[in-house]
Amino acid sequence: MTDPARRLTPVVRLAPAKLNLTLAVVGRRPDGYHALHSVMVPLALADRLSFAVLPSGDDTLHTTGFDPGPPKRNLSLQAIVLARAAVAASRVPAPPLAMRLEEAIPVAAGLAGGSSDGAAAIDGALEAWDAALDDDRRFEIAARLGSDVPFFLSPGAALVEGRGERLTPLHGIRGEHHGPPQPPGVLLVTPTIAAHTAAVFEAWSNGAMAEPATARRTSEHFASEFGSGLTVRALIERAGVLASANDLWPAAVSVVPGLLQLRRGLTRLIGRPVGMSGSGPTLWALYPSLDEASAAAEAVRAAIADKTLNAPGDAPPFVAATTIQTEGKDE
Ligand code: C5P
Repeated sequence: MTDPARRLTPVVRLAPAKLNLTLAVVGRRPDGYHALHSVMVPLALADRLSFAVLPSGDDTLHTTGFDPGPPKRNLSLQAIVLARAAVAASRVPAPPLAMRLEEAIPVAAGLAGGSSDGAAAIDGALEAWDAALDDDRRFEIAARLGSDVPFFLSPGAALVEGRGERLTPLHGIRGEHHGPPQPPGVLLVTPTIAAHTAAVFEAWSNGAMAEPATARRTSEHFASEFGSGLTVRALIERAGVLASANDLWPAAVSVVPGLLQLRRGLTRLIGRPVGMSGSGPTLWALYPSLDEASAAAEAVRAAIADKTLNAPGDAPPFVAATTIQTEGKDE
């Protein structure tokens, strides 16, 4: 085993964003969390973390890029502390780490950027220390960090249940013929108003609820279809029904003023179904390719600039074109 302090090149990890294609709230749990049934996919849009071993001192985090926010809010420092405690038993040295985080994913946006950073930090720290933990321990740390973190420990699409800790890998996107699939494009529009998950769930509990069982039926049906694989074309055909399968929509609308108007304006502008990811406020639309999503992103930026599309918040929204990551867990 090499001495981690002698490692010369930093360890680098990408932390992808996630998109909820469906999100049904199926109940309230005794621990206060909400039980979910959600199909989640990782996106190409990703934060980048690098880890270098320090000779002494405390772990450090240097953040650049998108709206960094106070470092404490980021889960990556906490992830390192928990991973270090877990490897202590194996007597592998776990020296302090200097972490650099290049943030590309907007914060508190329904894209789980912070959660993905936490998952990447567990595995990045282990690699920097040349240490290993079994899947159960990694999973335990991830679940302690937050409900969305376990999803990011393995790649690919998944059905997410419980508060986020029950994962079933789904085949996801499959190729039209025998070749590998072209990844579907995704347009993301995130107004610059944070929707804190806890506040959105509280609004749901206080009655901002959708028609019961509709999103659940869609989510269950879609999870079974996506489990055996869907072509990009078949996914796009389902965009309308997926876009209306997020039970947190009425709650997010009550927390983020102007979100309903933005969704209506966006739907009119791009002529496609518009959904919301997680607890919002990120709105999404699906396209057959990255090029088509990029053209839509340009059109949205232009409409924001000339005020034919109005988005809430003090600054113009984050508008991005990206793709769904298509390599499945079982390939
Ligand atoms: O687990 P995490 O810290 O990311 O969750 C943030 C907040 O969102 C929780 O404190 C809880 O209020 C709410 N939440 C929930 N049910 C879930 C996930 C999150 O009520 N399944």
